[in-house]
This record gives sequence, C-alpha cells and structure tokens, in this order.
Amino acid sequence: MAPQIMWIGLGNMGRGMCSNLVGKGDLDKPLILFNRTKKRAEDLAAKFPQGKAEVVDSIEEGVKKADIIFTIISNDAAVKETIEAILKADVKGKVIVECSTIHPDTTEQVAQEITAKGGEFVASPVFGAPAAADAGALIFVPAGPRSSIEKVRPYIKGVMGKAEIPFEDKPYGSALKLKLIGNTFILNMASVLGEGFTVAEKSGVGVEPVKQFVDTIFGGVYSAYAERMSKGTYWRMEEPLFSADNARKDAGHAMNLAKSSGAEFKLTEVADGYLKTVAEHAGGSKGDIAGIYGAARKHSGLKYENDS
Ligand SMILES: NC(=O)c1ccc[n+]([C@@H]2O[C@H](COP(=O)([O-])OP(=O)(O)OC[C@H]3O[C@@H](n4cnc5c(N)ncnc54)[C@H](OP(=O)(O)O)[C@@H]3O)[C@@H](O)[C@H]2O)c1
Repeated sequence: MAPQIMWIGLGNMGRGMCSNLVGKGDLDKPLILFNRTKKRAEDLAAKFPQGKAEVVDSIEEGVKKADIIFTIISNDAAVKETIEAILKADVKGKVIVECSTIHPDTTEQVAQEITAKGGEFVASPVFGAPAAADAGALIFVPAGPRSSIEKVRPYIKGVMGKAEIPFEDKPYGSALKLKLIGNTFILNMASVLGEGFTVAEKSGVGVEPVKQFVDTIFGGVYSAYAERMSKGTYWRMEEPLFSADNARKDAGHAMNLAKSSGAEFKLTEVADGYLKTVAEHAGGSKGDIAGIYGAARKHSGLKYENDS
C-alpha cells in the first residue's frame, strides 16, 4: 500500500507540485491538502478527478492521517509556525519533507524539533520556477538520512522533478546552503539583464538586439527572464512568479551565509538594492524579480514600466 501523503502550502510552487503528485505519483489514497487560505486548497482539489484530493481544516487533522508530509511555504517564520502546528500531532514514524527556501539554521532547528519527537526529516529545497513545478521538472536537493530520502524518492524523479542533487547522510543545512548559493545566480542574472536592457535603451542600441544576443548566446533561463522583461510582463503580471519579498528573503539569507563563512556576496547586495525598489514600486508580495529591470530603469531616470 502506498503511503498517505499530505501537502502544506499551495502557492505558486505547491500547486504545480501537487498536480504532478496526483497525476503521476501512483497514490492510492486522496492527497491531503492544507493551505492557510483554504479557498486555494478547495480550488485546487476541484481541478482534480473526484476522490483524488481531500482538503482538511487544520494541519493537525491532516498530519494524524498522513505518513509523509510535504511543506513549501514562504519564509522562515511561516515554516516555524507550520512545524509547530505539525508537532501538535504525534509524528513518530512520519516523514516531514520541508521544501521551502529558508535559512540553513532554521532548517536545522526544525529538523531537531521533529526528530526529537520521533519523526523523520528531509530538507529538500527545489530549483526551478513555477513553470518547472507545473511541468514536473524541478531539481530537488534532498538532505538527511539516506533511509528517509529513499521514502521520498518515488515522488521526485518522473513525478515532481527531473533530477536530484542529493546530500545523503549529510547535514540538513547543506541543502539550504546550496539552494541559497544557487539563487544568487538567478538574482544576479536578473540584475545583469535589467541593467543591460536599460543601458541598451539609454545608449540608443535598443532592447531587441540585446535580447537576440541573450537568446543566441545563453538561451534557457536567461531567455525566459529576458522575455519577461522585454515584453513588459514584469509590470503587467497580476501575480508574481517569484515575489520580491521571497527574493529579498533569499538574498538576505545568502548574504548572511557568505558573511558567516568569511566570504562576500557583493553582487547579491546590488540585486537586493534593485529588489527594494521593486517592492517599493509594485509591492513586496506583488512585484516579481523580473521587475529588477523596472528598478534599473527607474534608477536611470526612466519610468519603471517599459513601452513594449
Ligand atoms: N517561486 C519560485 O520561483 C520558487 C522557486 C523555488 C523555491 N521557491 C520557494 O518556495 C517557497 C514557496 O514559494 P512560492 O513561490 O510558492 O510562494 P507563494 O506563491 O508566495 O506562496 C506562499 C505559500 O506560503 C503560505 N504561507 C505564507 N505565510 C504563511 C504562514 N504564516 N503560515 C502558513 N502558510 C503561509 C501561503 O499561504 P496563503 O495562500 O494563505 O497565502 C502560500 O501557500 C518559498 O520559500 C520560495 O522561496 C520559490
């Protein structure tokens, strides 16, 4: 019999991950769904075939029935609150898989709380945008005891993910350290593109040739962000794909990690400065990191919104 799975957190990432779990996860019981805003859970459950998901009113109610509990929510405070709620139930023998991007110290702390109560813990942040979550193409970074990771593996490759960068029998925090370092690449890329497009416009070269350069030389994620910027999606989108608040949280944790390791993330400081402008202009929970282009424009005397 397949384990009973529960999912906590149905934001941009969680919804796509659950859809793949329900579609390809070989579950023989309904996926238990919990989200702080219950309507999101109800709306998602309504999209699945009858009997494939069950919405619960409280975390405790779901945890009591579940064998494996996934969480992917905004930030450290939300994760701590959620783990506290999980621990209201008996977690002995259950596996908690925490996929949010949080500080490595927070991960270690919640892992300690869960394992002290007899639960198993896997830290598994993910790389990939919401589109990759929808496509089941995330890259998972699982850390923790190999035996616990093995219990989660059936739901990773070919279900929610396309690959793993595992830290088996390694500290939980290792996964989060990699995740934070990786996210600085994304933040810095957004700054490189935002500044490049801005200077192209101000110097008379124009945005389109720079976009062609990016598409032909780099492609991939660079092209996806270049598209979101040059086409003006960054200021038209109603909901962000990667909110300024979440990006600033990642930048702060990454800079803290560098400092505590005796190193520097100077470029991330620049990206964070742009993100501050995005949050001030569009709202921290509404602005998207591609809005770094709007911020670079603003810092150069142009308006935030481009004319695409
Ligand atoms: N977006 C990306 O590109 C991306 C990629 C990889 C990893 N991540 C990481 O994955 C996590 C989720 O990202 P996301 O883009 O899905 O975020 P999101 O769309 O902003 O969704 C956030 C989720 O967290 C819940 N939440 C927020 N505060 C809470 C609290 N105090 N208690 C309980 N639940 C709370 C929200 O519930 P409500 O519905 O009630 O607001 C929602 O389910 C973050 O740690 C993020 O850094 C994001």
